[in-house]
Amino acid sequence: MKIISNPLALQQHLKNIDKTLGFVPTMGALHEGHIALIKQAKEENELVVVSIFVNPTQFLAGEDLEEYPKKDAADKKICELAGVDILFFPSASELYTQDEVKICAPNVRGYVLEGATRPGHFSGVLTVVMKLLNIVNPTRAYFGKKDAQQLHLISLMVRQFFMRVEIVPVDIVRDSDGLALSSRNIYLSKEQRAQALKIPKSLYTASQLISKNVVDTQEIKAAMHTILSPLKIEYVEILNRDFEVIREVQIGNTVILVEVIVGKTRLLDNIWL
Ligand code: PAF
Repeated sequence: MKIISNPLALQQHLKNIDKTLGFVPTMGALHEGHIALIKQAKEENELVVVSIFVNPTQFLAGEDLEEYPKKDAADKKICELAGVDILFFPSASELYTQDEVKICAPNVRGYVLEGATRPGHFSGVLTVVMKLLNIVNPTRAYFGKKDAQQLHLISLMVRQFFMRVEIVPVDIVRDSDGLALSSRNIYLSKEQRAQALKIPKSLYTASQLISKNVVDTQEIKAAMHTILSPLKIEYVEILNRDFEVIREVQIGNTVILVEVIVGKTRLLDNIWL
């Protein structure tokens, strides 16, 4: 595995490689969810590039940028074992300068749900993803469905900026207790983790109701709120694939999303129906 930290050096290295290229952008602290992204990228492409970069512009003041888990040595090992060809490991000064051109998240879809409580977060995400995609110039880029709003906005950006990359959504990976894998799960104490299990339980309840032909989204959301109570619920929302609020579940075109704060940890989960 080749490790490259300089963006121009990576571009130079990739310039004459005439192979399909799968790209997995990450912020490190890799877990099975990232490994699933890498595996799929390997199956579908001849060469795989992974980036590890904790992007400062997507953290708001007072968020966990400084505490964000860093596991550089373990991450390198994981990438090597997973068969990654190139690991891109830039520093902030290699990706950002002063007085930068920025990508702005859309006024509506970038400022609802997670964007409502983290205003500006998605502008930071889109800016760094634009940079990374331009540096790597992949055939396909892989993103987890757990960050459904991020995935939606990146797909919008790629479409609206006429970018030549295929965005590939990859299914959520869960621990054996049902909790969706996230690098931030390590912040949870044993008690908090037990509380967090209300999240997959609420989604399971929603899917059970739907399998009994309940389609009214208000009724489903109310049942989910009951399960999640007394956790601090940021949102429970039921949307179509265009991220529009719907009154009735449409199988094949529905995403049910939850965000909850447990202790100080923001936990996201969703199911796609
Ligand atoms: O999902 C993440 O890990 C990050 O938001 C991403 C896409 C790597 C951009 O920093």
